[in-house]
Amino acid sequence: MKKDIIHLLALTAILLWSSCCTNKVKPVIEPDKDIETRIEKILSGMTLEEKVGQMAQITITVIQNNDKDGNPQWIPSMLDSVITKYKVGSILNVINEQAQTRKLTSDMIKELQEKSMKELGIPCLYGLDQIHGASYIADATLFPQEINVAATFNREHAFNMGEVTAYESRAALNPWSFSPTLDLGRDQRWPRLWESYGESEYLQAEMGKAQVLGMQGDDPNHLDAYHMAVCIKHYMAYGVPVSGRDRTPSSVTDIDMRERYFEPFKECIQAGALSLMVNSASNEGLPFHANYEYLTEWLKEGLNWDGMIVTDWADIDNLYTRERIANSRKDAVRLAINAGIDMAMIPNDWQFCIDLVELVKEGAVPMSRIDDAVRRVLRLKFRLGLFDNPVWDLTQYEKFGSEEFRQKSYQAALESEVLLKNEGEILPLEKGTRILVTGPNGNEMRCLNGGWSYTWQGDKANDYTAHFNTIYEALRREYGSANVRYEAGVQYVPGFGKWQQENWSEASIDRAVQAAKGYDVIVACVGENSYCETPGNVEDINLSQNQKRLVRALARTGKPIVLVYNGGRPRIINDIEPLAKAVVNVILPGNWGGDALAALISGRENFSGKLPYTYPRYINMLSTYDYKVSEVSATMEGVYNYDARIDVLWPFGYGMSYTSFEYSDLKVNKANFTSEDLLEFEVK
Ligand code: BGC
Repeated sequence: MKKDIIHLLALTAILLWSSCCTNKVKPVIEPDKDIETRIEKILSGMTLEEKVGQMAQITITVIQNNDKDGNPQWIPSMLDSVITKYKVGSILNVINEQAQTRKLTSDMIKELQEKSMKELGIPCLYGLDQIHGASYIADATLFPQEINVAATFNREHAFNMGEVTAYESRAALNPWSFSPTLDLGRDQRWPRLWESYGESEYLQAEMGKAQVLGMQGDDPNHLDAYHMAVCIKHYMAYGVPVSGRDRTPSSVTDIDMRERYFEPFKECIQAGALSLMVNSASNEGLPFHANYEYLTEWLKEGLNWDGMIVTDWADIDNLYTRERIANSRKDAVRLAINAGIDMAMIPNDWQFCIDLVELVKEGAVPMSRIDDAVRRVLRLKFRLGLFDNPVWDLTQYEKFGSEEFRQKSYQAALESEVLLKNEGEILPLEKGTRILVTGPNGNEMRCLNGGWSYTWQGDKANDYTAHFNTIYEALRREYGSANVRYEAGVQYVPGFGKWQQENWSEASIDRAVQAAKGYDVIVACVGENSYCETPGNVEDINLSQNQKRLVRALARTGKPIVLVYNGGRPRIINDIEPLAKAVVNVILPGNWGGDALAALISGRENFSGKLPYTYPRYINMLSTYDYKVSEVSATMEGVYNYDARIDVLWPFGYGMSYTSFEYSDLKVNKANFTSEDLLEFEVK
């Protein structure tokens, strides 16, 4: 009897504990009752096939081609398969794989929505990678890349970028973007470093939150026609592959994962982020797409977040074909959906739909999991207002491509370019200075923009940007065309897939050297051509040998060199940096980056950018600002006589201006203190 009572008490205690614990976290977004009621009503009338269709996302190239005149069109039979038969709820990607006008994009998306509403009574969710502005809409306002926005250390620019991106995407009927990127760029070899806000989780989180608020506004339940849903990505630790190559495994401990890599995602979710994309790779042997703990426990339960989780490109398949933790494509679907994936970026066929229906019928995926996923998909569509307005009034976007937006981008570019060296105060260059501009980055809009600019690899950017100024063109405007000449020396080979190829010869370098003799200053523009994702992997993080050869030859003229670095990640330049009097890192400043540089070099504006990453000096000394004290030790005495040190070219946060600062008289109000005390510091 006594034992029974004890059992009963114990059971009651467990029940009380578990009910208080499952509900203990307040929902991160307070649900809207009306939306929830409408979701339940729709869900209760849906077949399994309809539900599974909502969890599927297909790429646009499956359902679109060109007519005989080269104009994009839907393929009716494929639309019937995708929308009518498989009831697919989401389409991604840009028409014809390159930025299209607002008009063309919106005309086609309108037809897609009409089809979806007619066949399913549910709007289609159209997602694009609008990465630094509405980068897939021609004539939209492109901003500097996220890495530059980080270099401003100014949240306002992240907010502006988000707000303008949303406005101009909505103006083309696109309500959902796969941005912002919150990967901590902590490995300088990694080809996607520039897509994020740099190496610090604090900077990343602060900038990310500002961008989320700019894109979504402050009511995540009801976005208006000027705001769009974000998809924060790539959850998480994507930027620290052990190999330094894209989409390869990381090896992060749980503590680091929680305290560092989770942090920006958590902060953005708390700011209202409505959807999230998962890291393609794996950590300590387990792919993120199959990680129940990270997807379901940390995000959905731990934060009590009712947003939607989408895979990255083909990443359910990859559990079978690349990661090999599933024994078939179908088994991969089981693993991913049970781990907490709500939508599959399949993206090329509809086998996912067939497999998932079977898995539910076989009892391998519970119906409750499907319902949870579909609720999240429908909720996102409701929050975007798509059920009531699958298309909206496109005459209300008079600020599209406006001067107001342009100014915002220009200002961000201006604050993002980093002055790293200015020996003998060679900068600013006074009016009338005769300048030779050289190097492969001196006359290319493509390089200023980087990847995700009009196309995935950014390789067609020059076709869209003739009306913008390259560095050379901007310097001509600043100093007068008679004073500025361009002689490339080394040039990039244009075209898709060739970003690492360069054209040069002894003769082309010599032409630049001879030209330099007639000028006062050499502005040598070096760095990288545009690239994106895995194609951006490099074998050697050194700046290309051709470009180094060019700078060395120029230095032999004795003319002062201003080295302008323009690229997505810091390439090693320790051997040519001493040859330059000044160094400016413009990173990837976008369409107004050349104009901003000219204004800064002439002193019309002052530098204020700071490095958002650590610039390494040596290949075998890649580091971040928060390395462990144990990584630096004095020379050990005795037989070994070794030392361990960290020696970087420029640390995270470094950046000069034309103003000199001096400080003195540092004082603190207490000499003895405990951890409870508040200290006050004073400095002149
Ligand atoms: C990238 C994502 C992107 C997706 C859709 C993937 O290859 O990793 O960042 O959002 O493609 O284009």
